[in-house]
Amino acid sequence: MGGLSTERSISFKSGKAVSEALRSRGFDVVDIDVGYDIDQQLRAEAVTVAFPVLHGKWGEDGCIQGLLESMGIPYAGPSVFSAALTMDKVCTLALLRGNGVPVPEGLVVSAGQPAPTPGFDVPMVVKPVREGSSYGVTIVHELSELAAAIEAGLELDDRVLVEECVPGPELTVGVLQGKALPVVEIAPVDGWFDFEAKYTKGATEYHVPARIDPDLASRCQEIAMTSAALTGCTDSCRVDIMGGGIGGPKVLEVNTIPGMTGTSLLPMAVAAVGVDFPELCERLLRTARLRN
Ligand SMILES: Nc1ncnc2c1ncn2[C@@H]1O[C@H](COP(=O)(O)OP(=O)(O)O)[C@@H](O)[C@H]1O
Ligand SMILES: [Mg+2]
Repeated sequence: MGGLSTERSISFKSGKAVSEALRSRGFDVVDIDVGYDIDQQLRAEAVTVAFPVLHGKWGEDGCIQGLLESMGIPYAGPSVFSAALTMDKVCTLALLRGNGVPVPEGLVVSAGQPAPTPGFDVPMVVKPVREGSSYGVTIVHELSELAAAIEAGLELDDRVLVEECVPGPELTVGVLQGKALPVVEIAPVDGWFDFEAKYTKGATEYHVPARIDPDLASRCQEIAMTSAALTGCTDSCRVDIMGGGIGGPKVLEVNTIPGMTGTSLLPMAVAAVGVDFPELCERLLRTARLRN
């Protein structure tokens, strides 16, 4: 838990919740704050199985998974490749688009390159290619705001994604052991699902199951399962989707290590099918293995 990314503080919350849950199920758990000495810490603690609960760079992008593979320590969560792939929204969406999964129209702007003119209109969404927790995401309402939004995104990554703004409702679908969970609807009380709305108590209302047409819910579950299979994240992941109005649902991203507190979205969806948080953690732990 912890780690070196912008999402360090969120990871502590998730990590502590997971370790407490696993302890309650009788496992011998040691909490490790992941830093550059992680290899020494893993050896000093004689870790036999790892459960990375790290969000963002170094933890959700294949780095820690690569270290664990190299040290021969079985681990839960995404493989090196699935983590690296899904951390990169451009590569993920290209793979999904190429396999018939609906995704927003978008274009990539690289640092130092002239920004291409989007073939779609405002509102647009500008975001760093490899971030999370809505860091660096800007909703652009006027074309005159686009350049500044791109610049802000480029402070966090060397590429930014400019996307068409897809209408809500905002939805997220957990996939656990290959099967889609009930759709969760995300309804920020004010504005959009930015960092504040994600982590401030009471700033967002959640509905499980989502208050949407059952056909739309099944369609979202289907595209979530396809997205999980294509990216190799069938053990568990959470697929963020905009409901899309008449244009139909579109996938925004695949999260391989989503929030894991008792009140986070994946645990919320799992609770809706009668599986409590400690059991979810134990099930995920039992999928731990080496992948190469
Ligand atoms: N194309 C889009 N259309 C509408 N809203 C979007 C779009 N892309 C992102 N958003 C909004 O920004 C939030 C964060 O974007 P997302 O792609 O999920 O990145 P992350 O959660 O990794 O920061 C989403 O939950 C959604 O509210
Ligand atoms: Mg998201």
